[in-house]
Amino acid sequence: MAKNTLTVTDNRTGKQYEIPIEEGDVIRASHIKEIKVSPSDFGLMSYDPAFSNTASCRSKITFIDGDQGILRYRGYPIEELADKSNYLETAYLIVKGELPDVKHFRAWEQNIKKHTMVHENIKKFMEGFRYDAHPMGVLVGTVGAMSTFYPDAKNIFDLESRRLQTRRLIGKMPTIAAAAYRLSRGLPYVYPDNELSYAGNFLAMLFKMTELRYKPNPILERALDVLFILHADHEQNCSANAMRSVGSSQVDPYSATAAAVAALYGPLHGGANEQVIRMLMEIGSVKNVADMIKKVKGGERLLMGFGHRVYKNYDPRAKIVKKIAYEVFEVTGKNPLIDIALELERIALEDDYFVKRKLYPNVDFYSGIIYQAMGFPMTMFPVLFAIPRTSGWMAQWAEMVRDPEQKIARPRQIYVGEPTRPYSPIEARLEPTSREDAVSDNI
Ligand code: CMC
Repeated sequence: MAKNTLTVTDNRTGKQYEIPIEEGDVIRASHIKEIKVSPSDFGLMSYDPAFSNTASCRSKITFIDGDQGILRYRGYPIEELADKSNYLETAYLIVKGELPDVKHFRAWEQNIKKHTMVHENIKKFMEGFRYDAHPMGVLVGTVGAMSTFYPDAKNIFDLESRRLQTRRLIGKMPTIAAAAYRLSRGLPYVYPDNELSYAGNFLAMLFKMTELRYKPNPILERALDVLFILHADHEQNCSANAMRSVGSSQVDPYSATAAAVAALYGPLHGGANEQVIRMLMEIGSVKNVADMIKKVKGGERLLMGFGHRVYKNYDPRAKIVKKIAYEVFEVTGKNPLIDIALELERIALEDDYFVKRKLYPNVDFYSGIIYQAMGFPMTMFPVLFAIPRTSGWMAQWAEMVRDPEQKIARPRQIYVGEPTRPYSPIEARLEPTSREDAVSDNI
């Protein structure tokens, strides 16, 4: 049988090293450090900006096979969960590792619902934002502020405390998100209705007007719940990495979640669904699609909602989202942007530029079209991503906290700046033009 090692010859010294290959076809970066020219040498480092080929953890939560277009939570295929499960059950699976039985599901549901209310001062805190504040900015700030309401969350090594903060965050996220929306519309805050489902209550907190009780449309409620399932976790993406990295300093989970929400806000991550709609609106008509494709191929633009670091095949979530779109349109009427999106997809999937680079629609390509049809303003799209992703973030965080191999996240760097130079008093400094150029390049 082949030996599970890698033999490396350092041609600088002629020395050979045998590096163990561990389970999952990985080598430890710490073993590379043993490769040295002299005993005082720091040793070799691997350079991997953006972690494109570096595993930062071992995880049991989510499996992705990017070449095959496979996504599983705790071993369960995303297609089956989207078809048969509901968001709260999937959140339980992600957080706890197994599907619940009836008794445990009821208790979990009750426990989450118990935490849907927010402290009245959180409401007041939110009123301090400017009238036109982006709801994602409001979410970042408010989730961070929650750490001051729950100082017990600092006990991150206490299992009961971790469980409590997880229930609180999953329970309160829709309430804060809905409050951010109502605030931006100048509408009064709506208290949670715990008789409704997780998604149904969220819709009520968003859209309830003068009626005594809001009744969500069951098709829209189910569509939103499935979208929540699809967005619940996605292994080591930018926001999960932010959650783990910030959490590795042993800060409380509210502060770490605020960092994760901030990461999600960016247009290359959760902000992409908003950018897709802006792009489709800019294209305006099916006849202008070819022009946009030309701009993308010319490097002038990115095709938002396309491409993925891991998927080099159709994102399995995008397939499900595309199907849901038509179910939603049965209730809301067709969003005309779907025709532009379909044409964009059709041309892109046949075009050499996209084929060669393995660029396929990702989850964000069609989700914004559904959200828009359901009446959400574009600024709420990334918020609709943050709500369900909270269960994923908490599972990733808890796994990191319990992992004895994890320490404070602290990458190395390759210093490429000036060598040592003496300080000179300000009046004695000459201003060579090359220095001015260097200064103007910074920030
Ligand atoms: N449009 C046009 N070209 C693209 C795109 C795109 N959307 N994405 C990648 N490329 C090109 C890229 O220019 C590069 O070309 P070349 O080899 O000639 O330099 C090649 O494809 C490889 O791309 P990359 O930039 O090395 O890929 P990455 O893994 O660093 O980036 C990504 C992944 C998702 C950030 C990127 O595909 C992108 O910016 N997509 C648009 C934004 C988007 O839809 N984001 C949502 C991601 S899914 C949900 C989530 O995680 O939040």
